[in-house]
Amino acid sequence: MSVATEHTYTLTDLEHWPVGVDQCPVNGTALAVIGHPIGHSLSPVMHNAALIELAKARPEFAQWRYFKFDIAPEELVRAITLFHRHKFRGLNLTVPHKALVVPHLVAKDSFVQDAGAANTLQFTEAGWRGFNTDGIGLSVALREDLGVNLTGTNVILLGAGGAARAAAIECLLRKCASLWIANRTSTTLNELITSLRKSAAFNEESHLEGFDPKAPPTTLPSRAVVINATSLGLKADDDAPLDLAKIPTPAKVFDMIYRPPQTALLRQAALLTIPSANGLSMLIYQGAASLERWTGESAPIKIMRHALRGAHHSA
Ligand code: ATR
Repeated sequence: MSVATEHTYTLTDLEHWPVGVDQCPVNGTALAVIGHPIGHSLSPVMHNAALIELAKARPEFAQWRYFKFDIAPEELVRAITLFHRHKFRGLNLTVPHKALVVPHLVAKDSFVQDAGAANTLQFTEAGWRGFNTDGIGLSVALREDLGVNLTGTNVILLGAGGAARAAAIECLLRKCASLWIANRTSTTLNELITSLRKSAAFNEESHLEGFDPKAPPTTLPSRAVVINATSLGLKADDDAPLDLAKIPTPAKVFDMIYRPPQTALLRQAALLTIPSANGLSMLIYQGAASLERWTGESAPIKIMRHALRGAHHSA
């Protein structure tokens, strides 16, 4: 992989894009992930490995490159204008841009409408079309790693931020049996529950309830699937967002965090012999869905996973 795609670019680079002939082949097609911070992102490694693989059957993909840009929230509007001017084929968005970008889209899919957040943009002449592949990424990861089908399943979801909201919409759209959401801050939790009830994904049969993770209700279902969508666990010494020993024994535990690969929640699941998985597959499957939208080709999942493993070990 060329050094250029590992480099973190800025708005200044974008103002002068392409900054050098090395970055993108002449007549090449550019993709990018934007976030703040972004230095840690493994998306370029994963997508560039996938593009090299796709180029084996379709040589035009040898001209495609995926970059990362550190864009502050106040720079977002200028940045997406410039990405459009430079005809970037697609963008991925991460913290803090997923919700901020929505008013600037010319079109959006129903998931973006419901979740109020987009993680994937596609170039059109008229402007950016917004999509959200976080939901499908979660569903496929749960199925592949843990054999879980959200339909008819009781879900205990931890968190009430952007990641939790997308997960909640996916659970409701897939018609989970019940959705119990826990969050440290009750006002944020109540706001999320109220807005989920108003969303198109919610229907009469949806059983949706919030609870305090410090005082889990006795009515929680047993054999539920616990999904962590909080950022608690990103730091090695973080506690678990919920004590699994204080709830009826769950069937499976999924943590959206993939770095570090084992969080306190996953360690507790292992102690209680509950099958569990971290967020690596979710990262892969949300990326795969974005790549398929931009390229029209099936994403090479194994290659993407392999590239991430390599990056993990060298990180
Ligand atoms: P994201 O877009 O990744 O979801 P976010 O919107 O900032 O990020 O949401 C972070 C989530 O992690 C929230 O649910 C937050 O809980 P609060 O609403 O109480 O802030 C949760 N979170 C972050 N740090 C936490 C901590 N130390 N303990 C418990 N929950 C935490």
